[in-house]
Amino acid sequence: MKLLITNAQVIDPFGGYEGAATILIEDGTIKSVAKNGKIKNHAGARVIDAAGMYVAPAFTDMHTHLREPGFEHKETIRTGTLAALKGGFATVCCMPNTNPVNDNPGTTEYILKKAAGEGSARVLPIGAITKGQRGEELAEMEMMLKAGCIAFSDDGRPVESPIIMRRALEYAKGLGTTIISHAEDLQLSSGGVMNEGLLSMTLGLKGSPSIAEEVMVFRDIALCGLTGGKLHIAHVSTKGSVDIIRRAKEQGIHVTAETCPHYFSITEEAVTGYNTNAKVNPPLRRPEDVEAIKDGLRDGVIDVIATDHAPHGKEEKTREFDAAPSGISGLETVLPLGLALVQGKTLSMMELIRKLTVNPAGILGIEAGGISEGREAHICIFHPEKEYEFRAGEMFSKGKNSPFDGWKLKGKTAWTILGEKVHEWA
Ligand code: DOR
Repeated sequence: MKLLITNAQVIDPFGGYEGAATILIEDGTIKSVAKNGKIKNHAGARVIDAAGMYVAPAFTDMHTHLREPGFEHKETIRTGTLAALKGGFATVCCMPNTNPVNDNPGTTEYILKKAAGEGSARVLPIGAITKGQRGEELAEMEMMLKAGCIAFSDDGRPVESPIIMRRALEYAKGLGTTIISHAEDLQLSSGGVMNEGLLSMTLGLKGSPSIAEEVMVFRDIALCGLTGGKLHIAHVSTKGSVDIIRRAKEQGIHVTAETCPHYFSITEEAVTGYNTNAKVNPPLRRPEDVEAIKDGLRDGVIDVIATDHAPHGKEEKTREFDAAPSGISGLETVLPLGLALVQGKTLSMMELIRKLTVNPAGILGIEAGGISEGREAHICIFHPEKEYEFRAGEMFSKGKNSPFDGWKLKGKTAWTILGEKVHEWA
């Protein structure tokens, strides 16, 4: 099957190209990228007219919860990967806090087999650092790597013991893989359900202070410096964390970091009215944190925009605030929320796409191609300007838990192409 993308405004951070091109895809492989518009052998091709749209490499999410096995009422590999494609992603890296936990090669193989049969987007599992995510004993990391894991994290929980984290970084270094830190000191966060401050006092909710994140960011960076292992800090939410990571990078420590759209788009105010769809861990913070996160994105301290897609069932999110689970269903809103950074001049379009493609792929050492001849087509075509009212209930994800429900958003995926699969979105 031949596919011709005409009038494309290409934005490709892999090749550093931004400009016009005509693209011919044949049987899922990019055959030619003609920057002068002249293309041969396109007779009989299906044509996508991309006038007014951007054509970018499809995105990689290095922080997704697909919930399968064990929590299929929240999400499945089938629904989560369809949500990913809709969001513009070709690749999602799924966190191990499933049931059973992905802490052994058998569970990794199960996820990969399910994904091969039912998945729309490519699924790359992240294995648990410790058995059962209990923080006591390292998981079988080498065997899990061989089974297909691409990094390790106890996400959802921190690795509380510093000696276990040290050993994990040492072991991961030997294996050439990355440790992803869910940075939270559980004694300091001590059951907090939102950011600690005046608002938590006013609402009568238990607060989790910024320092609960920052001391663990600091500890893990210190252990990273000691061991020389590769460390990535997940879901950075505070100004203090950005400052600590900035200093570590200046000192040449091999640390990378991600944030999520909710940490640069909304503040703790979103939980007012006990809105459980804005309950997330780490919690939404103050305006000065949001500004610091944007500064960190702008100056490269924060390498990646990841979703932390955390779908939950409706009956779970309609519990009282204290009892509702934390998490935001994020795969289908990352593009417009990211584009707001471009409109607000925090990032250039190229930098935004880099943080969604080249940077996560580079950190994880995974194959994820740009728009160049000979590569499998992983392409996202999007309208940068299209405005619409976002309805969380219409997401492909089973988790309709979004604090952006009813927002006027700008920017929408029009097509996602993954090999021979060509998806057009309404
Ligand atoms: O809000 C969150 N939800 N933060 C996490 O770290 C885990 C996630 C989940 O699995 O629901």
